[in-house]
Amino acid sequence: MIRLGVNVDHVATVRQARMIDIPDPVEAALLAERSGAEVITVHLREDRRHIQDGDVARLRQRLRARLNLEMAGTPEMTRTALTLKPDDVCLVPERREELTTEGGLDAVTHGKPLREVVSRLREAGIRVSLFVDPDPKQLEASRELGADGVELHTGTYCNAQGPRLEQELEAVRRASSSAAGMGLEVHGGHGLNAGNVTPIAAIEEIVELNIGHSIVARAIMVGMARAVEEMKALITAARSAGW
Ligand code: PXP
Repeated sequence: MIRLGVNVDHVATVRQARMIDIPDPVEAALLAERSGAEVITVHLREDRRHIQDGDVARLRQRLRARLNLEMAGTPEMTRTALTLKPDDVCLVPERREELTTEGGLDAVTHGKPLREVVSRLREAGIRVSLFVDPDPKQLEASRELGADGVELHTGTYCNAQGPRLEQELEAVRRASSSAAGMGLEVHGGHGLNAGNVTPIAAIEEIVELNIGHSIVARAIMVGMARAVEEMKALITAARSAGW
């Protein structure tokens, strides 16, 4: 059994471009849930560039799927998570100037502050995973910090070409097997799309994949024809009614 977590951040990105209330990431999440998503994922960034605190609160009220909050492991975000009460938190590295999360968390170097964050969230009944590269040192550190699981960063695999592709895939396979062997729940995500997801979804130890950009991009393409047809019908009807 493998769960699909749909990340709706970029629905909010389109909304924030106009600072109005559409498209609503919560409505998109409910459609995703109705279509089979077992998890809805949002990244509440410190700069609030897409998802807002109110979106997470509304998701908390309306979702039946699990709510997975991606966030930086800071004291401020920890307080926010304890108020918003998602089912799951995935701790990610965050830099303001980045376009998206670049690389996994360094759980070895940042062990001390992360330990406190992991334990406070877990005490509140939130399941905690760390977004890490498929690197044995990071898996060991994640286990040692008391995380429930890891989300393996699949971005390097997704960007690899030629012989590197198989090497990166093998790194994800090996990391999945050793993380599961340590008792960690194994998730994967970043950069996955219809063209590269199959070998990752085939890895037995992976129980959840979080996918955002490619699903939102596909939704725009699939929905464009309908949106144009609806508008065309409206303006044509207005003209023929003689308004
Ligand atoms: N997992 C994590 C930890 C992420 O930070 C992101 C991007 O927000 C994703 C998964 C989804 O990545 P993508 O949008 O490339 O599918």
